[in-house]
Amino acid sequence: MNTLSLVVLISGSGSNLQAIIDAIESKQLNAQISAVISNRPDAYGLTRARQHDIPAISLDHKEFETRELFDQQLQLEIESFKPDIIVLAGYMRILTTQFINAFSPTILNIHPSLLPKYQGLHTHQRALDNNDKTHGVSIHIVTPELDSGPVIVQGKFTIESDDTSDSLQQKAHKLEHQMYPLVLNWLSEQRLKLNSKQAVFDEKPVQTPMLFEAPVNAL
Ligand code: GAR
Repeated sequence: MNTLSLVVLISGSGSNLQAIIDAIESKQLNAQISAVISNRPDAYGLTRARQHDIPAISLDHKEFETRELFDQQLQLEIESFKPDIIVLAGYMRILTTQFINAFSPTILNIHPSLLPKYQGLHTHQRALDNNDKTHGVSIHIVTPELDSGPVIVQGKFTIESDDTSDSLQQKAHKLEHQMYPLVLNWLSEQRLKLNSKQAVFDEKPVQTPMLFEAPVNAL
């Protein structure tokens, strides 16, 4: 089985990155992270990468005049590592169509909502404001339209009456940290294959998102 080569893009804390690193180090995931790239120089995820001897690259978007110029440089950086998959893990910058087309369909994103609900920002507060009974996270293939690519898997949880935006974020994180390594492992095992229209799992097209069942008491 081939080791899956990853480049992980982050903008912040990098707890999803950490979950992927931990899964690799505990041999639950047959992958290697070739580089971590952040558009924010102060992202804690860069520190996490360095602590595990992973090349950590800061590419400050504020130093580029346009989104296009920034994404061109980002593309060059990524291409130098020749990854199998680009993993967006809390990467909070809109990518240009040109960038996405250069790597499609091998860019994955994790998003803290049950897509197509709540594309964009403030997903937890929006679920509360709408009195939703359930909420969750989605892993999807990135296509040029923001947060709209084919969803591979979703994890769901109940919104309790005392939940806040912060508590929902914590629940979402717990699910994310299990789901992202799992999906990447499916790729490394070649159970999961990506194309720009849909994913294929165990030779069957993923028509509706697969449901990730969290272990009892995990949330
Ligand atoms: C995660 O919850 C992820 O779903 C979200 O950012 C957080 C990053 O956390 N991503 C998005 O909102 C993308 N639209 P982390 O830096 O601790 O992994």
